[in-house]
Amino acid sequence: MVNYKELGLVNTREMFAKAIKGGYAIPAFNFNNMEQLQAIIMAAAETKSPVILQVSKGARNYANQTLLRYMAEGAVAYAKELGWEKPEIVLHLDHGDSFELCKSCIDMGFSSVMIDGSHLPYDENVALTKKVVEYAHQFDVTVEGELGVLAGVEDEVVADHHTYTRPEEVVDFTTKTGCDSLAISIGTSHGAYKFTPAQCTRNAEGRLVPPPLAFDVLEGVEKELPGFPIVLHGSSSVPQEEVDTINKFGGNLPDAIGIPEEELRKAAKSAVCKINIDSDSRLAMTAAIRQVMAEKPAEFDPRKYLGPARDNMKKLYIHKIVNVLGSDGKAV
Ligand code: G3H
Ligand code: 13P
Ligand code: ZN
Repeated sequence: MVNYKELGLVNTREMFAKAIKGGYAIPAFNFNNMEQLQAIIMAAAETKSPVILQVSKGARNYANQTLLRYMAEGAVAYAKELGWEKPEIVLHLDHGDSFELCKSCIDMGFSSVMIDGSHLPYDENVALTKKVVEYAHQFDVTVEGELGVLAGVEDEVVADHHTYTRPEEVVDFTTKTGCDSLAISIGTSHGAYKFTPAQCTRNAEGRLVPPPLAFDVLEGVEKELPGFPIVLHGSSSVPQEEVDTINKFGGNLPDAIGIPEEELRKAAKSAVCKINIDSDSRLAMTAAIRQVMAEKPAEFDPRKYLGPARDNMKKLYIHKIVNVLGSDGKAV
């Protein structure tokens, strides 16, 4: 059993309170491997942005939970080595699907966990979230709950349409569970295909333009829960230049589409104080690797393609922090 404080990590409580007051959002970047982690830490250290390192159940299985614990501890030391005096780094379980998984992560040094009971009947979601909160709070670990279902693949469950969060449920849910933040559904979704072409219009260049997010639902939630930390999942923008590079060098991602950055900028200024981004990093990594593989077919040193992949992800993370979420300079 190790407490996150021994690893130099922080929970989300103070970070979120400051973000809501300051009108910006904290980036929550998923990672599975060393290059992603290096890129996240370099970007956060250079911009002095608080950051949430997010680990899904799949990432935990892929990377090994013991290694992850040391990687997070290493990330704090690395951030300091890069000149970031007081790194504000959270290690967060993304889409925890059981009490046992959340407990195991808390016992292994995570400073924050998400318990995603959004696919359960309301009362079961409340009971499960409450159980996780009761355990987590003993160790000052913060907990994210979820109400409403995102379209796409979530928690190994595929939903073919959104079920928007019902603002009339949020006070009851947060009061009964004691959760520290709430993920809501307002039209974002996971992955690189957030909308079908049929749901979109096309602009002059023939590019897909997605339907707008349901900001009225977000406003309804904010009205019910003034000042409460709100989380947006499925917030990758699917940068067209990365998709184009992938497709140019042998990939096949037709009609991939994400959330326009203007909408995320608007959300970041509201009570949304955590924005989850995974797919964009996967695209940045894949685009750089494909390009090296295609242009230098004789190359077989992994550093020669993983290095450019890391550079490209770092550039993406800095862009998100500075130009979309506005969290730069908030953790000096
Ligand atoms: O919300 C899901 C995250 O993008 C993690 O995805 O389960 O494939 O690691 P994953
Ligand atoms: P994206 O697939 O849009 O990056 O969403 C990631 C996410 O919500 C992780 O929980
Ligand atoms: Zn998610």
